[in-house]
Amino acid sequence: MSLSKNSVLLSEKEIQEKVCELAGTISADYEGRELLLIAVMKGALVFVADLMRKIKLPLELDFMAVSSYGSTTKTSGVVRILKDLDANIEGKHVLVVEDIIDTGLTLNYLLRNLKSRQPASLEICALMCKEKKQKVPVSVKYLGFTIPDIFVVGYGLDFGQRYRNLSDILIVESEFGLQ
Ligand code: IMP
Repeated sequence: MSLSKNSVLLSEKEIQEKVCELAGTISADYEGRELLLIAVMKGALVFVADLMRKIKLPLELDFMAVSSYGSTTKTSGVVRILKDLDANIEGKHVLVVEDIIDTGLTLNYLLRNLKSRQPASLEICALMCKEKKQKVPVSVKYLGFTIPDIFVVGYGLDFGQRYRNLSDILIVESEFGLQ
C-alpha cells in the first residue's frame, strides 16, 4: 500500500469549498428549527468540526461510534455500536453527519436504529458517496462528492487507523493497483 502526492483525489481547497456550500444549504433549510448534529465517529470527526463552524444556526452536537471495517479495506457488513449517544433524540431535528458511504450498510443500520428513537426529523449529510450500487439504498439529503469506487484516506478517513490527519483526501494504491 502506498500514498503519493499524485494520488490526491480531493484537495483541501475543494473540500473546504464544498463544506461551505453544504453548510449554507443546511443553514437555510433548518432556519427556525433546533438542529442536532450526530457525527459518526471516528471518520466524520474532521468533517463535522469544519461543517458545524460554518452552519449559522444554534445547534447541538452528539456522537456515535460504530465499527464495520476492522483493519481492512473491505466492509465486514456487521455494524457494532461502540459508543451510543449521550442524550435522548425524541422530538429533535437530527442530521447525521457521515464521512463516506460505500455499501450503505452502516448508515442503513444507523438510520433504522435512530428512527426507532422518534426524532422529529432525520436526514443525512455525507461528504462522499462511492459511485456504485449500494448494497442497501440510503437516501442522502446533503452530499458533498460522488467519487469512484476506490479506497480513500485523509480528512478523517483512515486505513488501519492511520492517515486521518491529512488535509487532502488521497487514493490508496496497493501493489496490485487501485483498491
Ligand atoms: P459502508 O457501511 O460500507 O457504507 O461503509 C461506511 C463506513 O466505512 C464509513 O463510515 C467509513 O468509516 C468506512 N469506509 C468506507 N469506505 C471507505 C474508504 O474508502 N476509506 C476509509 N473508510 C471507508
